[in-house]
Amino acid sequence: MRKEFFIIYTFVFGAMLLDLVACNKPAKIILPLTHSWEKAIPHQEIPAGLTSLSAKACGVCHQQHYNEWKLSTHAHAWTDLQFQAELKKESSPFMCINCHIPLQNQQPFIIEGLVDGDIYQPVKNSNPHFDKDLQQEGITCASCHVRNGSIIGPTGMTTGPHQSIKDTVFLSEQLCISCHNANAVITPTLACTFETGDEWKAGPYFGKKNCISCHMESVNREIVPGYGKRLSHLHFFAGSGIPKFDTVETKMLNGFAFYPSALKRSYHILDSILFTLKLKNEFAGHKVPTGDPERFFNISFTLKNEAGTVLSAKTDRIGETWEWYPEAKKLADNNVAPNEERTFIFSYRAEKKENLTLSVIVTKHRLNKESADYNKLKENYPLFITVFDKTFETEVK
Ligand code: HEC
Ligand code: HEC
Ligand code: HEC
Ligand code: HEC
Ligand code: HEC
Repeated sequence: MRKEFFIIYTFVFGAMLLDLVACNKPAKIILPLTHSWEKAIPHQEIPAGLTSLSAKACGVCHQQHYNEWKLSTHAHAWTDLQFQAELKKESSPFMCINCHIPLQNQQPFIIEGLVDGDIYQPVKNSNPHFDKDLQQEGITCASCHVRNGSIIGPTGMTTGPHQSIKDTVFLSEQLCISCHNANAVITPTLACTFETGDEWKAGPYFGKKNCISCHMESVNREIVPGYGKRLSHLHFFAGSGIPKFDTVETKMLNGFAFYPSALKRSYHILDSILFTLKLKNEFAGHKVPTGDPERFFNISFTLKNEAGTVLSAKTDRIGETWEWYPEAKKLADNNVAPNEERTFIFSYRAEKKENLTLSVIVTKHRLNKESADYNKLKENYPLFITVFDKTFETEVK
């Protein structure tokens, strides 16, 4: 066979073969996005009368709302170092961003569908309207207040610098639940388990107090200076109080009320020392902790003698326990339901007559040290805060 012929032959035959293969193998099908969290909020035009969608621009007139929102975790939903670290992992699919930067305007790509319905094969087109500054703002004013190019508000305005469309059903707890409740096994090792909405619906506050009544306290104030006082809502979105940056002071709510006993003193050597810490979820409308399954509380007891030697110590934990490999599976969950009480007991058999000191510390954690190290989060990334810290003394008579 001459060389040229061979080349032509292989070319033609090869092409036929390729064709054949192509005919036998079904073409890849692009399936549409189905779940709500797979979709961004469609592109928004700037509402008439305004010059920008950005929170900063809203803040020129709505100064207090802006200053409050800036401290909220919503404002850090994109810049959060943990989020950024997780997003870079190959296992994190495209839709991770849809609750953290929910507007299409904040996303560099428009996702048209999924090749064969595979979440790791999104069909991406670049977004000509991508706004990088707006992306930095995470869950910004427009995420909750702009739809179809209009401001959505609680009263509806036909005059003023911008109009608003009244929609109190949209601006209700349903808006919160659209992001704060997602329960889906996405891949064997990736599960979304935010059940704050379901926990609230199943609890005693349903029909009485909702996400907004507890997390957006109502106040009577001017919403724009000079416009007169009216019903308004604080926009701190106060929550766990664990800040995202050690420079930002996030407003805190406390779910637990603490009821420590006295440190029961022993009058005789070898008598037990007994202490109980009762805590009750008195103030949260859902379990504590809620949301992210990595959150937990530690209740730690340390008993020291006069010389400062630790005689006994123990730590109890409230939270969920998960196994992520080979399959995401919840192993345990002792989160505290609304109005539920839990009692933690510390006891010790004293062997010597001496004064003893028991220190009781309760800490609220965003994630544990191992996860922080695994995500290469720096030392100054706040992992926990202390919500109860007391020392109890005993004197042996
Ligand atoms: C040029 C000033 C100005 C800017 C900029 C501005 N607003 Fe307003 N906004 C107002 C005024 C004035 C009111 C009415 C105040 C009143 O009646 O008490 C108002 C009212 C509102 C209301 C209440 C509407 C209702 O139905 O009761 C919302 C919500 C709102 N603005 C959101 C925004 C958002 C979000 C942005 C940024 C995208 C923004 N505003 C930018 C001046 C402004
Ligand atoms: C677009 C999705 C979205 C909507 C809508 C939304 N949230 Fe959030 N929320 C988030 C995300 C994401 C975070 C976590 C950000 C982070 O940790 O970086 C968050 C954090 C919070 C926190 C703070 C948690 C903590 O660490 O203390 C509170 C409280 C909260 N949201 C309440 C609300 C309430 C109340 C509403 C309704 C008015 C609401 N959210 C609406 C996505 C949303
Ligand atoms: C009865 C008041 C109340 C209601 C109703 C309520 N919350 Fe909370 N929420 C709290 C308190 C208090 C905390 C602080 C718990 C803690 O960390 O000690 C909290 C914490 C949170 C957190 C931070 C996570 C954590 O474990 O601290 C999120 C997120 C949150 N709430 C979202 C919501 C959403 C969404 C709704 C509506 C479905 C809602 N909350 C309804 C009072 C409430
Ligand atoms: C996570 C959702 C969310 C974000 C983010 C958010 N808001 Fe709101 N906002 C609400 C809800 C819900 C209400 C209505 C509460 C009600 O009337 O029950 C509201 C009410 C308002 C009102 C009417 C007056 C009041 O205080 O009730 C103004 C003005 C307003 N927001 C401005 C802003 C501005 C400006 C930003 C950004 C700096 C912002 N909001 C960010 C959810 C949000
Ligand atoms: C359905 C909406 C939604 C989607 C999709 C989503 N998140 Fe979130 N994310 C949230 C909410 C709500 C919170 C706040 C939970 C809380 O504080 O209780 C949050 C918080 C976080 C946090 C902070 C956790 C903490 O304890 O402060 C990280 C990190 C995070 N998400 C990463 C991701 C990654 C990675 C993905 C994709 C695999 C993802 N998120 C997809 C809603 C979502």
